[in-house]
Amino acid sequence: MSLLIKNGRIVTATDDFVGDVLVEGETVSAVGRSLDGVAERSPDGKAVRVIDATGLLVIPGGVDPHVHLDMPFMGTFSSDTHETGTRAALFGGTTMVIDFVLQRQGHSLKEALAEWNGRAAGTAVGDYGFHMAVTDYNDGTKAEIAEMVEQGITSFKTFMAYKGALMIDDRQMTALMQEVKKQGGVVTVHATNGDMIDYLIAKHRAEGKLSPLYHYLSQPEVTEAEASGRFADIANYTGCPGYIVHLTCEGALNAVRNATRRNQKVFVETCIQYLLLDASLYEKDFDGARWVMSPPLRQRKDQETLWAGINQGLVNVVATDHCPFMWKQKLMGEKDFSRIPNGHPAIENRMELLYSEGVQKGRISLNKYVEVACTNPAKIFGMFPRKGTIAPGSDADIVLFDPAARHTITAASHHMNVDYSAYEGWELTGQVKTVLLRGTVAIENGRCLVGKGYGKFIPRAKVRGFI
Ligand code: URP
Ligand code: ZN
Ligand code: ZN
Repeated sequence: MSLLIKNGRIVTATDDFVGDVLVEGETVSAVGRSLDGVAERSPDGKAVRVIDATGLLVIPGGVDPHVHLDMPFMGTFSSDTHETGTRAALFGGTTMVIDFVLQRQGHSLKEALAEWNGRAAGTAVGDYGFHMAVTDYNDGTKAEIAEMVEQGITSFKTFMAYKGALMIDDRQMTALMQEVKKQGGVVTVHATNGDMIDYLIAKHRAEGKLSPLYHYLSQPEVTEAEASGRFADIANYTGCPGYIVHLTCEGALNAVRNATRRNQKVFVETCIQYLLLDASLYEKDFDGARWVMSPPLRQRKDQETLWAGINQGLVNVVATDHCPFMWKQKLMGEKDFSRIPNGHPAIENRMELLYSEGVQKGRISLNKYVEVACTNPAKIFGMFPRKGTIAPGSDADIVLFDPAARHTITAASHHMNVDYSAYEGWELTGQVKTVLLRGTVAIENGRCLVGKGYGKFIPRAKVRGFI
């Protein structure tokens, strides 16, 4: 069936006008003013459902390029599966996510991909792609990079931290970047100094300092600033496109700013929590475990830096690093902060939080909102203009958003498979009302209308170092 969205305020990264969107099949066929006539002539000759969007924003489906679904980590699994996580994402206006496949050290990338395909294929409700996390770079891995790119996995994640588990050294980083550049991909990084952090964790534990506060104190700003600069240096030397995930602080952003002075582009992602929450939450004794994540929450001055960085075009993407754990899982670290599974839930909240705290409070424009939450992730990771915008030929991933609706975040009503909210009681202005995914109404009247397996794996194109 064709679908006509009428009289909405259509906002993309560059446009903002009142008009109509015509959807035929899975894609947008026309965008403009007064499309009724066009709809009547709709070539498939089928009925046209009309959705009145008067008073609503009509924006592209959100793209969250940093989520961890059903991921084995720190002796447990993140609690959202590809089914529950992508469904919750849809409720929150995010139609596409990029999840992380983790290579097991001593094993191949192919084995890891097969394992993740086994969990995601046929279960995801919303669309998804994969980053491949390279945790063991050797001649075998090198030979697999081209195969991954061919299969639409064009981004390769690295960890400069989690020593003894996921971390690679600079030798591997340099060699990986050379190969990824050759094959047309991008290297993404968790940029913190793993050796310094490893030492600080051991020191705090030896001193009997075991509460969540010491998770924070084991990862000071300098660990991130140093690693971000080092990553930028290696990317510059190899010429490989580089993307820093979950950047949190002034020191790290200044390292990137410095790189621009030698005319280098490094893509930067921050996450919604680093814009809105700060390290004072770690002073709540074990309750602070809700926000134990890496890197940790920082200071208010860092939030100011990140908001400014978005407006300066230095911070390109606002993601979530969604990595939820049930409270019982968090309790694994009740007696030792280093055993608290790292991560927090936000996949469902990102679009509404960023609108309410960003656009509504006058920190970013509406176009910038769409740019960092939808368009840039699609562009950087090789999915634009299929994803991330509303234009003829794009997938009809569309969110009807009520900019005036007020609501309160609570675990009792969210759809993520986690028994607490990191934003419990936050009162927001602006709410997702209706979500289309590839032309099908997926969310309407508070219900999810598409089932398990509706979500498709989206292969991604080769990556350029610019957008
Ligand atoms: O605390 C976090 N960020 N957990 C997920 C893994 C990662 O480092 O992104
Ligand atoms: Zn990370
Ligand atoms: Zn992550």
